Amino acid sequence: MPHARSKSMGPMTISPFACVLSALIVLLATACPALGYVPNSGLATQRTGAAAAQTYIVLVDPPPAASLQHSDGDEAAHRQWHESFLLPAVAGGVQRRVRHSYTSVVSGFAARLTAGELAAVSRKPGFVRAFPERRLRPMTTRTPAFLGLDPGRGVWNLTSYGEGAIIGFLDTGIDENHPSFRDTGMPPPPSRWKGSCQPPVRCNHKLIGAASFVGDNTTADDVGHGTHTTGTAAGRFVEGASAFGPVPAGNNTTAAGMAPGAHVAVYKVCDAQGCFESALLAGMDAAVKDGVDVLSVSLGGVSAPLDRDPIAIGAFAAASRGVLVVCAGGNSGPLPSTLSNEAPWILTVAAGSVDRSFRATVRLGDGEVFQGESLTQDKRFGSKVYPLYYSQGMNYCDYFDANITGMMVVCDTETPVPPMSSIEAVREAGGAGIVFVNEPDFGYTIVVEKYYGLPMSQVTAVDGTKIMGYAMKGSSTTNHTATIVFDSTVVGVKPAPVVAAFSSRGPSVASPGVMKPDVMAPGLNILAAWPSQVPVVEGPAEPYSFNVVSGTSMATPHVTGIVALVKKAHPDWSPAAIKSAIMTSSSAVDNDGHPIMDEEHRKASSYAVGAGHVAPARAVDPGLVYDLGVRDYAGYICKLLGEAALKAIAGTVNLTCTEVEPLGAEQLNYPAILVPLRAEPLAVNRMVTNVGPARSSYTAKIEAPEGLTVKVEPAELEFREVGERKTFTVTVSAAGASAEQKLAEGTLSWVSHDHVVRSPIVADSSIALI
Ligand SMILES: *[C@@H]1O[C@H](CO)[C@@H](O)[C@H](O)[C@H]1NC(C)=O
Ligand SMILES: *[C@@H]1O[C@H](CO)[C@@H](O)[C@H](O)[C@H]1NC(C)=O
Ligand SMILES: *[C@@H]1O[C@H](CO)[C@@H](O)[C@H](O)[C@H]1NC(C)=O
Ligand SMILES: *[C@@H]1O[C@H](CO)[C@@H](O)[C@H](O)[C@H]1NC(C)=O
Ligand SMILES: *[C@@H]1O[C@H](CO)[C@@H](O)[C@H](O)[C@H]1NC(C)=O
Ligand SMILES: *[C@@H]1O[C@H](CO)[C@@H](O)[C@H](O)[C@H]1NC(C)=O
Ligand SMILES: *[C@@H]1O[C@H](CO)[C@@H](O)[C@H](O)[C@H]1NC(C)=O
Repeated sequence: MPHARSKSMGPMTISPFACVLSALIVLLATACPALGYVPNSGLATQRTGAAAAQTYIVLVDPPPAASLQHSDGDEAAHRQWHESFLLPAVAGGVQRRVRHSYTSVVSGFAARLTAGELAAVSRKPGFVRAFPERRLRPMTTRTPAFLGLDPGRGVWNLTSYGEGAIIGFLDTGIDENHPSFRDTGMPPPPSRWKGSCQPPVRCNHKLIGAASFVGDNTTADDVGHGTHTTGTAAGRFVEGASAFGPVPAGNNTTAAGMAPGAHVAVYKVCDAQGCFESALLAGMDAAVKDGVDVLSVSLGGVSAPLDRDPIAIGAFAAASRGVLVVCAGGNSGPLPSTLSNEAPWILTVAAGSVDRSFRATVRLGDGEVFQGESLTQDKRFGSKVYPLYYSQGMNYCDYFDANITGMMVVCDTETPVPPMSSIEAVREAGGAGIVFVNEPDFGYTIVVEKYYGLPMSQVTAVDGTKIMGYAMKGSSTTNHTATIVFDSTVVGVKPAPVVAAFSSRGPSVASPGVMKPDVMAPGLNILAAWPSQVPVVEGPAEPYSFNVVSGTSMATPHVTGIVALVKKAHPDWSPAAIKSAIMTSSSAVDNDGHPIMDEEHRKASSYAVGAGHVAPARAVDPGLVYDLGVRDYAGYICKLLGEAALKAIAGTVNLTCTEVEPLGAEQLNYPAILVPLRAEPLAVNRMVTNVGPARSSYTAKIEAPEGLTVKVEPAELEFREVGERKTFTVTVSAAGASAEQKLAEGTLSWVSHDHVVRSPIVADSSIALI
């Protein structure tokens, strides 16, 4: 169903089991054979012809001022205004048909309409535009230490663990009884907080808001995704997260989120039917009204034009109210141009690995060893040696009638995680164990999942090829043997981080000319909170309160938590300033001191890693920031899409293209520079604001590959005050590039005595100036 894939959205997680659990975690069509979609989606109604109704998001002008007592609070007047678009009353009643009435991040509503009804609505005065909603895809213990967060010291100490900050989540709900969300010792929410918890959930000082916008009208998390992301961003310290079955979480089994002191508010916008855009927009509307400081959105669909993308539209208004929206970049890598959620006012997150491995070493009869991974560490397996078997005919291990009793088999996979069906087939055919060979595109990325039934190890495609070669060497009478040694969890693995294969790549389709993704954060094999009533694996499973999951969904809340820490340290910073701080302070190198690599262990492009890997300790003290405001974004929209698009995106902001200056993408004061790869020099302007010591002097340091010439003017910046702004020009020319060259990447760093403010510079032949 390739068509379905382009229409659906959901949590950005990688897991075929989750497809069984719930149709909403649809990642790769191949990962969810036949189970990926439920029939009653918006899709099905689209196919049944024009007479069938479907849910539209309808943007309209704000209600006439006369009908309002005060602008934002008058919900009833808004609803009445929205219902007036559906008059005269149709069967079913007008009230029931306005599914969500939006008053905060957009002015408009969602309703099920037939094509005829939509035409009538669109003729009413005040109508702006309408588009059918889509279904979205939902796209830790070790990560705080890996990111340099230490209890009682540094950033956590400086920001009191994010105390007082409020993080909102648009997700699958929450297990409110999970120990990660207990509130012992926490202060009550700040008085500006307007949210509440929907019964039967009772708010505490940790969980200060819980609301549902989906059919079942409960905030319970039947999927696990929302509990996991919330725990990752803001889970409190929980001892003994190694309670994840036989898998130790590393020697230090204390789990914590990035901002353990922050308050959380959960807006359930996904249920078993999926994550529909009308519910998502309702959640965003409520979150901004309630007063969250930052919003975490681990959901997305394929890239859509900014003026038809509810996440982009809602995030624009959120940014105008000081709320930074952090979004998953998508799990459609490693192909280029696969990003979701790319608007310049959004913080778009890529996923990388952590320095932890759930090691399962494969040792062959000839003494060669390969370091595979397995979440299920079968200690009883010992190091028993078995004959090793690989059949080219049955390389996906769909054994049915074969007898492979007492053999270790080598299986190929076409999916990011080995399919349960292959494991079952091998078990039923008598196999003693499995060596799963990674999908070739996944390179060094190994996505682990919890399995029962058979000892197994997942190895990279490169190692797998060698293991198969050994298994097929010699004649059929040659004895080939292998064993798996379960070495528990090892930490300090190098190199890390490495870009995860599934992490979506730039260039951006919806925001051409803006360098995306923005940053990378841990998203591969992330251990975090899990609702114990949601099984972590098919079949008779024990309850677990932590689970290991992968996706840009998991990377996103790491960044959201860091945003909360920065916001706590600098309450007056704009969303763009916070984003700049996180981008320019990020790390370009891995724990080996080399440039961060991609899944093939090549130097990673900025299109994979963004500005770099998040470094929270530096993000609170970036030295300089590249700031941007709503008017700048509006100028970009005007130049890219025009007045009508601005009205759709910035409906609640009251801006028109005549009052803002149209701004080309390259001139947007973004903390990353993207220009066409061409010989003629192109000058882009930037402005930095001093947020470090009052008296600071910075020198420009350029790194550029051969063929790319970068000049900065002036090359030195002297500041005397905090908040002082300085402009400069960066001139890029690729005169020395060869005709075949498509991409040239360098960096600009402003270096002072105690700060390095680094921005990627990307020259791309596929980028055109608009
Ligand atoms: C933590 O912060 C307090 C002040 O907020 C400071 O007195 C103390 O020295 C800091 N501790 C460490 C280990 O940095
Ligand atoms: C959802 O549940 C809450 C609390 O039980 C109730 O107040 C509200 O009216 C319900 N909403 C809908 C749409 O059923
Ligand atoms: C974990 O602890 C065990 C014994 O308690 C020790 O042998 C091992 O080296 C430790 N591993 C790490 C990564 O610290
Ligand atoms: C484990 O980590 C927690 C929190 O990160 C910390 O409080 C504790 O001291 C650590 N324990 C060890 C043995 O490193
Ligand atoms: C499968 O093979 C094993 C050993 O080679 C043998 O003992 C067993 O009887 C066979 N099973 C069947 C069903 O043929
Ligand atoms: C292969 O293994 C079998 C059983 O372990 C043994 O009897 C046989 O001699 C071995 N053959 C070779 C060539 O090593
Ligand atoms: C919108 O902006 C215009 C011109 O800047 C101003 O006259 C008008 O009052 C504004 N409207 C609202 C609702 O703020």
